[in-house]
Order: sequence, then structure tokens, then C-alpha cells
Amino acid sequence: MIADPDMLQRQAVAHAQAGNHGAAEAAFRQAVALAPGQGRLWSNRGVAARLAGDAARQAASLARAARLAPGDVDLAADAAAALVAADRPAEAARAYDDLLVRVPGHPAARFNLALLRRAAGQLAEAADLLAPLGFREARLQLAAVERQRGRLAAAAAAYRSLIAADAGDADGWAGLGSVLAMGGDDGARPALAKALALLPDAAPWWADLGHLDRAGRPGRAAASYARALALRPGHAIVAHHLAALSGSAVDHAPAGYAAGLFDAYAERFDAELVGKLGYRVPEEIAALVAGLGTGLDVADLGCGTGLCAAGLKPHARSLTGVDLSAAMLAQARRLDVYDRLVQADLVSFLAQHDAAFDLAVAGDVFVYVGALEAVFAGLGRAVRPGGHAAFSVEHDEGSGVALRPSGRFAHGAAHVEAAAAAAGFRQVERRDVVLRQDHGQPIRGRLYLYIKNSD
Ligand SMILES: C[S@@+](CC[C@H](N)C(=O)[O-])C[C@H]1O[C@@H](n2cnc3c(N)ncnc32)[C@H](O)[C@@H]1O
Repeated sequence: MIADPDMLQRQAVAHAQAGNHGAAEAAFRQAVALAPGQGRLWSNRGVAARLAGDAARQAASLARAARLAPGDVDLAADAAAALVAADRPAEAARAYDDLLVRVPGHPAARFNLALLRRAAGQLAEAADLLAPLGFREARLQLAAVERQRGRLAAAAAAYRSLIAADAGDADGWAGLGSVLAMGGDDGARPALAKALALLPDAAPWWADLGHLDRAGRPGRAAASYARALALRPGHAIVAHHLAALSGSAVDHAPAGYAAGLFDAYAERFDAELVGKLGYRVPEEIAALVAGLGTGLDVADLGCGTGLCAAGLKPHARSLTGVDLSAAMLAQARRLDVYDRLVQADLVSFLAQHDAAFDLAVAGDVFVYVGALEAVFAGLGRAVRPGGHAAFSVEHDEGSGVALRPSGRFAHGAAHVEAAAAAAGFRQVERRDVVLRQDHGQPIRGRLYLYIKNSD
């Protein structure tokens, strides 16, 4: 029997309906070979490829289909979406741009292009694309983008528009609560309470309520954290905060605490910390190491989004950033100043780098670590004789390590000095500084500069 494209297409559809996607794709392949000018066949082949899990072939087939039917905007949108699925974001963005020149209001094109712009860090462009879109997912995205940009009023407006459309939208209430909390607005608590009344098993929102009450109402905060922990046992961040409020004798953070905290925080870290909380550690560290010269191998431990890099780069022959949080490292990568970025716990990293650095820096990191003996043992290995360690701590008047209600550790001078001396470091300088603000109060800290003994 001589095969013809229509017959092959019918066979392909039958294969697809029977769940045999590989055979369907093969039948479409034969069909397009016989009738390569038929856009519909290419488009169907693309669908079959998607069902068979072959994103690259799906993208190629839909691109071909779209070229054959240049006036078909929905096909163009499908072809662009297939490029996203095939992990080709730059080409997908170009395809959406072209489509939006032809149909500026195309909702799917605007929405998907906004996601690509957001992923590329182009937040203003993402917000412009999303602003005119009225559907729920777009409002949620807009709120998230505005929040990430630090535009809390705009984020709150987007959440309010969700609530106006549906007063039972729990995500809208929870989102509104969390952005109002960031701005210190009293409306945060009732908004979160409303969200929890609608969805009482939402552990993250109980945790948000705990964060909100931590500074002023520790008893209520502990109850909210306990509720969150009951719903999601083993949640490191919540467990740590509960321990901090209960005054337990804890001297290190649980595994997963810092990575979990900063993965969730990475996108708004710079806007919030620098923009709102007057974060000064990078400048203070830069001033502390200003006299150390050039040509150094530098490790930025707990580099985060890379805020310390500007002050370190002038001294660096090589600049290595180390952090537990993949999301923070992704932000640092965008700066394009680090020679190497490593996702690791700083203690493990130091243990694997014998005499590798002339300067190791940790800006606002030890507050998430706790006891410093293991850190200094690592620094003692990794810093070359005559090299330096520069870091900040929240200062505690006691002699040890204190876990504060904020969940951050504060370090007494005796603890720092003993750990440093045991690892062969001599103190060069210490400075008392204001690290940043917290709930309107200055957080007092201390910067230390140590030199590694030569003998
Ligand atoms: C407050 S941020 C400071 C970031 C950067 N140093 C700055 O000054 O902007 C603290 C960073 O330390 C990282 N961190 C905390 N504990 C760590 C550990 N044990 N090892 C590596 N990174 C850690 C966190 O993931 C976070 O990115």
C-alpha cells in the first residue's frame, strides 16, 4: 500500500490516542517527509514530539510550522513556547518579541515573555509586560516581580486586585500580608490571619506570622512557629527560630537553615537589605582591608549576591565566592566579577583548600553559623602564613555565642579571640560599627581583621 500524508496522520493520531507517542511521532515524521509544505502536519508532529518527551524536536517542528503559516499568531505563540520548553530562552524571547510587534496585547506572549525577562533579571521589563494583564496568574507574577524590585506598594496593589476579584483568594491575602510585613505596615497581621482562616494548613504562612511577631510578641511568634512545625516537621528555618525564642542553648544553626533562608530571600536581598535596612557591612569590610595591597588570592566566604565583591576586586588576583545558597550564587554570577563561584558550606570548602588564599572575608555570615572554632580551624588551613581574615559579627557583651530572638548568632569578643588564637591568627584590628537596622533599631556589630602567623 502506498502511504499518503492523510493516512499517516490518521495512523499517528490513533497511535497517540493509544498512548504510543513514539510511534505517533514516527508516523508524523513520514507524513511531513511526504508533504513538507503542510504546516498542519509539522504542528501535529510537534505535539507528538512533546507527548514523546522530545522538546528539541517539538521546537524544531513548531518553528517549521510557524514559518509555513506566517499569519497564524497562535502557532507563532506555540513555537515560542516550545523554545522555552527546549531550554532556549534567548531564542524564545526573540520569538515572543516578534509576535508582540504583530499583536502587542497577545496575553500568552506577554505573560511568557515576562517570565523570561524575570528569569533574566529584567524586572522592570517583566512588570511592564504583566501590568495590563488581568488574569490571576499574571497578577500573582506582577506582585512577585514588584516585590522583588522592592516596590512594595505596587506589589500590595497587585495582591489587592486579586482580593478584589475574589475575596476568598488565600494567596492574595497571604501575599498582601507578607509585603505589608516587609514595609512594617500594621495591616500585615490581619491579612495573614485572613489567609490562614481560608487555608489553615498553610505552614509557610504560620511561619510568616511567626516572623512578624518575633520582635514584639515572642510568645505568639513561638505559637505560630510551633503550628508551622507541626504542619511541616523538620522545617529547619522554623525549628531554628523556635529554638531562638525558647532560649535553648544552641550554638550552631541546623543543616539547611542558611540555604533555605537565603534561597527564599535571594531575589529581594539587595533591594531590602541595602535599600531599606541600611546594610553597611560591604563598605565596612572594604575599608577594613583597604591597606592590604593587590595581587591577592581572595575568598569571599558566604558571598551571597556579591555585595562585598566591589571592595575586594581591587586587591584580587583571583576572587572566589563561596555560598550555600544556589539562589544567592545565581545573583552573584550576574555581576560577572568572581573568577569562581562555589556552592559549599564554608567550613568544608576551607578544609579542602590548603594555603590557597591571601585573604578570606566573611561579611555578615558568622551570624548564621554560630560557634567559630571549626570556621577558624578551616581558616587556619586555607589562609597562607602572613595572609589575612576579615569578617563581621553581631557583637555580644558576653564571652560566648548567643542565639538571639532574631535567629541570628552574636559573638562575644572572648569567643572570637580564643578561636582565632587557637588557629594561629593574631588580631590586627577591630572596629565597632552599626551593621544595619532591624525593626528600626541599629544592630551593633564588630569588624575584625586577623593575620595568620608565619611560624
Ligand atoms: C547576610 S548574607 C551576606 C552576603 C554577603 N557576604 C554580603 O555581605 O552581602 C549571608 C550569606 O552567607 C551564606 N552562608 C551562611 N552560612 C553559610 C555557610 N556555613 N557556608 C557558606 N555560606 C553560608 C548565606 O547563604 C548568605 O548568602
